[in-house]
Amino acid sequence: MQFDWATFAGRDLHLDLDLKPGRRSSLEEALREAIRSGRLVADTRLPSTRFLAADLGLARGTVTDAYDQLAAEGWLVARQGSGTRVASAPIPTETSPDRPTASPPQVETGRCHDFRPGRGDLSSFPRREWLAALRRALREADDAAFDYSDPRGLRVLRDALSAYLGRARGLPVDPDLVVVCNGWVQGFGLIAEALRDSGASRVAIEDPSMARNPATLRRFGLAIVTVPVDRQGADPEALESRGSAPAMLLTPAHQYPTGATLSSDRRAAWIGWARDHDSVLIEDDYDGEFRYDRQPVGALAALDPGRVIYAGTTSKTLAPGLRLGWLVLPRRWLDPVADLRPIVDRHTSALDQLAMAEMITSGAFDRHVRHARTRYRRRRDLLLTLLADQVPVVKPHGIAAGLHTVIDLPVDGPPEDEVIDHLARSDVAVHGLASYLHRNGAGTPPALVVGFATPPEHAFAIAARALASSLADLYRGSALH
Ligand SMILES: Cc1ncc(COP(=O)(O)O)c(C=O)c1O
Repeated sequence: MQFDWATFAGRDLHLDLDLKPGRRSSLEEALREAIRSGRLVADTRLPSTRFLAADLGLARGTVTDAYDQLAAEGWLVARQGSGTRVASAPIPTETSPDRPTASPPQVETGRCHDFRPGRGDLSSFPRREWLAALRRALREADDAAFDYSDPRGLRVLRDALSAYLGRARGLPVDPDLVVVCNGWVQGFGLIAEALRDSGASRVAIEDPSMARNPATLRRFGLAIVTVPVDRQGADPEALESRGSAPAMLLTPAHQYPTGATLSSDRRAAWIGWARDHDSVLIEDDYDGEFRYDRQPVGALAALDPGRVIYAGTTSKTLAPGLRLGWLVLPRRWLDPVADLRPIVDRHTSALDQLAMAEMITSGAFDRHVRHARTRYRRRRDLLLTLLADQVPVVKPHGIAAGLHTVIDLPVDGPPEDEVIDHLARSDVAVHGLASYLHRNGAGTPPALVVGFATPPEHAFAIAARALASSLADLYRGSALH
């Protein structure tokens, strides 16, 4: 007889069971196979012997014996109070009739000291607060919350975001102009498609900038025009000399990756450029919440909400795994973008939207961001101190905000690639600036892009010392000091 599914504590467990000859041994073999193939991953709690026996029509003793045997072989672990679980790395004994051939799939953790930019400290995700927000949202949501809902996002989140963006980013927002999306990449895809539909054939972007953006534009047949970035951000005059474009993508609060803040003159100049050319600016405000040295720089969109599409994301403040972001659109771009939203993916998960709205209105989100800002500022300060003490020849900049810094390397020292390889040999992972350049980067001075948010809090000081001392080793004794 073939049993396919056992249901336990509300969960389904697929077991290939042929119970005819040896009932216990076939149950053991089915469980081994489920673990070996990765279907039952490490730490999965198995059903109680009583439950599984009832489900499969076996004597309870048969299931108990099978569990005991698998525990003796190292496949399972029985713990007082937490039941029987799949072992974290099943190691069978010599008597095991069948050894596992592979451990369960592991999440890639990257190199030991992970300074690659792009993520926050995942270990500080506010699990307790998110759970409380979700619990409250679930308790209070009516049934309609579980139905298909407004593709622009739930009203309760759009209201909460409007209040938050007005308060925290200085951007007055009409909730009717908000479109909730699954993070920046999806939001930018919607914008690119709407631009293409409006007849655009090219979009201007900063150079260097996020490596993924040109691919999004190319997907919609849009050519890119690159605008170089200096310490004031991108300059509209540089775009003028390359012909115009119906849209320009900017990271005004903290240019990615150089870290430049778009100066107030340039802000005004870009707004003027958009008005003169009847173009639209796209503001990627990916880490605007993290400002350390000066008063927070408000959103560019506040200068002229009719000319700027504003985009925010939770990928830096909470976690990229959430896939939650938002667009605030000029009225003329609302329908072109909002009409595409349900075609791309009906809407963002309603439960995540409800939890996020609750996080904002309860104040938990602001508290989390405030604590994160304090921790990241401390990290940044430690990193800068170590570099100044041990490797004064390298020059960090773009440090007033955000979760990464650009470290200029001596032009007469080893090339960028060699420095990255040298650090990798000390288990330190960083990116090179060249990987963010869209034009031919020949002649660009070597620089590292170093994210200081990713190592978990307890490991940061060790990681920062490893980075600084590895760089110090490289430049020690050279005439570069
Ligand atoms: C410049 C920039 N924009 C936006 C994002 C966030 O993208 P998403 O919201 O799709 O996770 C990142 C993430 O690293 C980024 O570097």
